[in-house]
Amino acid sequence: MPAIAVVGGLWGDEGKGKVIDLLAEKADYVVRYGGGNNAGHTVMNQYGKFSLHLVPAGIFQPHATCVIGNGVVVDPNVLLQEMDMLGKAKIDTSRLMVSSRAHVIMPYHILLDGLEEERRGSSAIGTTRMGVGPAYVDKVARMGIRVGDLTDRKALPARLRPILEYKNAILTKVYGKPPVSPEEIYEKCCLYGERLAPYIRDTEQVLYDALERDELVLLEGAQGTLLDLDYGTYPFVTSSHPVAGGAAVGAGVSPGRISQVIGIYKAYATRVGGGPMPTELSNSLGETIRQRAWEFGATTGRARRCGWFDAVAGRFSNMVNGFTSAVLTRLDVLDILPTVRICVAYRVGDRTIDTFPGDADTLARCEPVYEDVPGWLTDTSHARSYDALPERARAYVKRLEKLIRCPIDIISIGPRREETIVVRQTF
Ligand code: IMP
Repeated sequence: MPAIAVVGGLWGDEGKGKVIDLLAEKADYVVRYGGGNNAGHTVMNQYGKFSLHLVPAGIFQPHATCVIGNGVVVDPNVLLQEMDMLGKAKIDTSRLMVSSRAHVIMPYHILLDGLEEERRGSSAIGTTRMGVGPAYVDKVARMGIRVGDLTDRKALPARLRPILEYKNAILTKVYGKPPVSPEEIYEKCCLYGERLAPYIRDTEQVLYDALERDELVLLEGAQGTLLDLDYGTYPFVTSSHPVAGGAAVGAGVSPGRISQVIGIYKAYATRVGGGPMPTELSNSLGETIRQRAWEFGATTGRARRCGWFDAVAGRFSNMVNGFTSAVLTRLDVLDILPTVRICVAYRVGDRTIDTFPGDADTLARCEPVYEDVPGWLTDTSHARSYDALPERARAYVKRLEKLIRCPIDIISIGPRREETIVVRQTF
């Protein structure tokens, strides 16, 4: 069996948690390949409602082994709390593994994330302030602490010393803040190492062996393509690679093993934090969608910006990911609208373009060109087959498929597992 990647189609929050929970029914392994606890994957099933930040959404499938891959940055405190929370809900977390190569979000990363955002002032990125960006910066600067390092009490002081000297110089001299205590950091690392030791593995070997045994590996993306460090609206992006290419690197799986890439799109667009979003509705309709869909961040509680489906961005996303199949979520949210708009091109100055600009300033100047389609004004949440959807809703889905150039094989019309229409079985 191959590996299948599940990737966010736009700016994250597309409903990947629900889709993974569903697809994981058939999976032997579910692997988070990037991001950190900036993600909030909501899952609603027979065990309750959960917001997962680090543990893969496959954890509810008793046969699936869940892996936090090397591409993830791990705040051990958040991970341990999440494991405790799952334990209390009687969800077995003994099937969880954490890559020894994953980097650790340290307390100073969280401090610096907040301080850096404040320093940016009006050009703040609007990060989740979870320390994700600073942890990836240290990974690239080769001054990170990896999960495997936490278990080596003897080697840790020498690893930590130069890093903490540097971090404390920044905290005190650049930001005028008190230094962090090396002793406290060391103690925390040892504690985390002790608790996480049973879960730490060289997970790329585990996944290689699983694929050799012909088992199914699901690669769970976090965030979305338009937040990708390279392909997103830089600098208003996250610090990792949510795209399909990032799945191979972040899980330690060969690209040749990934046989399907499933793109998750919401039936409208949302974005949290700063940066351009051409179809944003800064009016009462945007507020109606936000309230109806409860578009508030699962991690920070921040109100998400809402707008019409942006097919230019959606097509670009398909281009960089090579989706073999798409999932359309939250179609039911649009049930009450007499007209639904789709952005099919942008006007920028006196030009009309239908490709996604590479820089955020140009995107900020883009005015959406809309195509209007009649709304269906029918409750779709009870539909369980494609044919049971109103004709106008089907026409909307068909139009999106054509514009993003990818078949929509699953449609979600509610948060629960059963509120799902499988149009075509893809695996
Ligand atoms: P960071 O990932 O916390 O550094 O934040 C960078 C940008 O990505 C901000 O605009 C965040 O709001 C956004 N972001 C990060 N994680 C998510 C997510 O899981 N869903 C949606 N937006 C996210």
